[in-house]
Amino acid sequence: MTQPTPVAAWESDFDVLDPAYIADPFTIWDMLRTSCPIAHTERRGSTWLPTRYDDVTAIAHDIERFSSLQVAVIPFQLRPAEEGRERVLPYGLPPISADPPMHTWTRRLLLPWFSHRRVEGYEQMTRALCARMIDGFVTRGRADAAADYAQQIPVRVIAHILGVSPELADTFTGWVRDVLEFADDHERRVEGMRGLFGYLNDQIARRRHEPGDDLLSELLRTEVGGAPLDESLVLGQALLVLIAGIDTTWSAIGSSLWHLATHPEDCRRLVAEPALMALAVEELLRAYSPVTMARVVTGDMEYQGCPMKAGDKVLMNFPAANRDPEVFEDPDTVVLDRAHNRHVAFGSGIHRCAGSNLARMELRVALEEWLERIPTFRLAPEGEVTWAGGQVRGPRQLPVTFP
Ligand code: HEM
Repeated sequence: MTQPTPVAAWESDFDVLDPAYIADPFTIWDMLRTSCPIAHTERRGSTWLPTRYDDVTAIAHDIERFSSLQVAVIPFQLRPAEEGRERVLPYGLPPISADPPMHTWTRRLLLPWFSHRRVEGYEQMTRALCARMIDGFVTRGRADAAADYAQQIPVRVIAHILGVSPELADTFTGWVRDVLEFADDHERRVEGMRGLFGYLNDQIARRRHEPGDDLLSELLRTEVGGAPLDESLVLGQALLVLIAGIDTTWSAIGSSLWHLATHPEDCRRLVAEPALMALAVEELLRAYSPVTMARVVTGDMEYQGCPMKAGDKVLMNFPAANRDPEVFEDPDTVVLDRAHNRHVAFGSGIHRCAGSNLARMELRVALEEWLERIPTFRLAPEGEVTWAGGQVRGPRQLPVTFP
């Protein structure tokens, strides 16, 4: 793995994996919004970074000029010797990696699994899971709120929905982190993809003989135009659910707990006024939006004064849009009961998150269960908080202490 060179100028040479960007992207976005609202870099190919709400949402809706055929923030290019099994995904991970018409019908296949009614059905198991995790450390008076708690929840809920073994939670998390978080480490990323591929392929083979009432079995039963769904689409959709549902929600839970550990006045208020939880969840999602996606420019054009070329990437900086002072009053302050909050943490337009009901439920339940048992907590004075950045931002190590 090569070490990136330091950023010379954020306007023309930004790097979303730079330690300064991972630690505090907010100051960099504020600076860019006034000096150069759509920044550019040549690192990892020509890439643009919008920071204003209006630009990010306009690009998200402009699906003709900004395609979703490549959505990885750090491009994933296999070396010739590694191509082979990976070719089994000619369509990538639809619907996230598809434009219409494929986007439309592949999204429709997933949506029912994350409807309000289905998500209500997953709430009890999520609550029991959170309680079990807390049982494991509550008497110790200390925990890593990211690794011991936030990280453990979404992966088990997703395993339940897909019908795969929750015993493998740590293994899934490892693979997904290899793909998303350590994306600059080529070998590690390929290994993560191989792990996910191999496991899901085996599970698909097994479901063909012993179908259940899980998402994988349902996808195998699905027919499109009178023919069964291509197996590469079953694999792609299952992979998407695993990849999209784990790091994202884990990061949102972790960032929210970090906020409450470092802002005791907000923590006290949320404990005293539990009815605020629904609004607080939206505000925490706005302020600490974890997900940045990418688009690929379909043809040469000038966009807002920027000379974009076909094949350039544009990073859908939903997190920066949510801190835009033109749209959110006092954007860098968390206002738990913020009334006007049209945040785009779940994206905007046709690719808006298909799992947002599930993510919201998991975040709410994780915070409710934590605050019920641990109403007062703070960062461990001797511990170190570490953050992941790039495509998904959130704390990976969050040592806290409590009475
Ligand atoms: C706090 C947690 C989450 C956040 C912040 C989040 C954010 C996002 C964002 C920003 C997009 C739009 C991508 C784009 O425009 O290219 C997206 C798409 C998607 N998300 Fe989530 N997500 C979260 C949790 C989940 C969960 C739990 C699932 C379910 C497994 C999920 C499944 C999906 C799917 C399937 C798409 C693709 C939708 C499409 O292309 O039509 N997400 N998510």
